[in-house]
Amino acid sequence: MNDQAEMLRRIVGNMNNGLAAPDVPKPEKRARVITVTSGKGGVGKTSVTVNLAIALSRLGLRIAILDVDFGLANIDLLFGINPKYTILDLIRDEKSIFEVLTDGPNNIKFLSGGSGVEELMRLDRKKLRMFINNIALLDKLYDIILIDTGAGLSRNVMSFIMAADEIILVTTPEPTAITDAYALVKMVSRRDRKKIIRVLVNKAETAREAEEIANKLIVVSEKFLSLKLYKLGYILYDDNIVKSVKLQKPYCLNNPKSQAARNMFALADVLLDNSQGSEDLLGARGFIQRVLSFFGA
Ligand SMILES: Nc1ncnc2c1ncn2[C@@H]1O[C@H](COP(=O)(O)OP(=O)(O)OP(=O)(O)O)[C@@H](O)[C@H]1O
Ligand SMILES: [Mg+2]
Repeated sequence: MNDQAEMLRRIVGNMNNGLAAPDVPKPEKRARVITVTSGKGGVGKTSVTVNLAIALSRLGLRIAILDVDFGLANIDLLFGINPKYTILDLIRDEKSIFEVLTDGPNNIKFLSGGSGVEELMRLDRKKLRMFINNIALLDKLYDIILIDTGAGLSRNVMSFIMAADEIILVTTPEPTAITDAYALVKMVSRRDRKKIIRVLVNKAETAREAEEIANKLIVVSEKFLSLKLYKLGYILYDDNIVKSVKLQKPYCLNNPKSQAARNMFALADVLLDNSQGSEDLLGARGFIQRVLSFFGA
């Protein structure tokens, strides 16, 4: 174990010996786990995840990102940082979570999935427990954990959606993106009628267009699925995003005055002001336990 891991373990230990009276159990701190997803691919999930992390960290929150888009590790590309480890190192080599997390800007930590799902299903009980305990440590050290998924309604992606405390559903104004977003809401509503889904319209031409699309999704979901969606906000189409992807520097860091960054900062404020469901967080431990139970591990 390296020095940093030992130090962090001590910090976590100290946190457990808090000031609560012995007969009044202190509620365990849990991170808010938010899965960023979409029906259609390429709508901006990874770009949203990375820049939302930066916007939230500017507000003083401690942020970790799990990239579970197995195969395509995109988060590292947008940060322009080459991670040394992936989730596979956590699973296989009995490394601690603190060793495998990669440092991003603003103290953001991230971990890429690699091709970890099949591996997880093959783990024996002891290793599985170690894995869960490692992920659960994130509850103490981070306020928000963002999960970046691949697109679509595959079983794996649905597992990450249903296991999270809440969902950010990204869509663009394209009709196919909207219908695919609705299909995803429908899938979620069949499994859990109380899931908190926040709608984010990306690449809109105007604020009005974004509003109209969010409202349409909200009204239709209410009417046909009796599911309440929450409006998170929008990011207008902005060439700065395309440039920042090429430069591998997130626009909220590199170009904080751009249209996209201003939209993102507003959206982060809305996310913090609206914490429906936060009274009863599943947190990182609950998240990973549920994911594994959906995978049938
Ligand atoms: N608001 C925006 N304005 C202009 N371009 C954008 C905007 N948001 C995202 N993009 C561009 O759209 C492309 C897709 O973005 P991104 O990779 O984040 O999508 P994704 O949903 O994560 O894709 P995938 O489904 O493949 O994971 C990127 O090239 C990005 O630069
Ligand atoms: Mg992506």
